[in-house]
Amino acid sequence: MSENPVLLSREGDLAIVTINRPDKLNALNREVLAGLLRVVEELTAAGGVRAMVLTGAGEKAFVAGADIAAMRTMGPAEAKAFSDLGHRLGDRMESAPFVVIAAVNGFALGGGCEMALACDLIYASDKSRFAQPEVNLGVIPGFGGTQRLSRRVGVGKARELLYTGDMIDAAEALRIGLVEAVVAHGTVVEHAKGVAKKIASKGPLAIQQAKAVMRRGDAGLASANELEAQAFAMLFGTEDLKEGMGAFLEKRAATFAGR
Ligand code: COA
Repeated sequence: MSENPVLLSREGDLAIVTINRPDKLNALNREVLAGLLRVVEELTAAGGVRAMVLTGAGEKAFVAGADIAAMRTMGPAEAKAFSDLGHRLGDRMESAPFVVIAAVNGFALGGGCEMALACDLIYASDKSRFAQPEVNLGVIPGFGGTQRLSRRVGVGKARELLYTGDMIDAAEALRIGLVEAVVAHGTVVEHAKGVAKKIASKGPLAIQQAKAVMRRGDAGLASANELEAQAFAMLFGTEDLKEGMGAFLEKRAATFAGR
């Protein structure tokens, strides 16, 4: 790929990070995940950043999921490494000494919803759509969705979304507490930057401590995420997953045999 899949721009103490693969609706492959991880680690090491806004390129998608074409050919070991990479990214965003804000400008599906969930705050365009549709493909979330969704919206709603794969609109996402606010399409990055600037005007150490202490309350997250990665990887040894992902790429309905 010639174009950089992750773009970084700075506005004073704010960083704006854009996932830049619009022709594939910003689907997360290894290159995108590694690029995001590098950017978050560099911003953390550099210091002086108060908030980071994460968004997707184009009008249609924040991130339409992990890259199904890339996953289709993975075996369990590769899938575990892929899941571990996604988890490392989520962990670095949650442990960063700055606030991370998702500006969801369209589809936030699967890994896209999971990336948003690893952010401190989520703002959504009124055209955005959310889902954890992995079960349609014979797989489960692999970047923290089995853990972070229920922590945000409650375990019942999380189960419903995970088991049905249903897509919800921005209004429903707001109603269930998945997002903090819904704004007019095209204004979500500006809105997120406005909140980021307000946060950046507060005591830096107080914000850092508030974030760190709230994270410590979630002490069980790391081991639960490891269990998720193991289950995600195991499913890559099944016929169902090959059928589910093959069906998506061949634009047909999947037929699962349960093996
Ligand atoms: N992985 C890989 N490629 C993806 C993708 C994903 N998660 N999501 C979309 N794309 C690709 C499509 O294959 C298509 O590529 P092509 O132009 O080479 O055929 C391109 O992005 C545009 O998507 P398309 O499906 O044509 O757009 P649409 O408007 O008809 O539908 C969605 C949009 C989001 C409903 C549909 O793309 C979709 O269901 N995506 C997969 C969602 C998913 O299951 N994510 C979880 C993965 S674990």
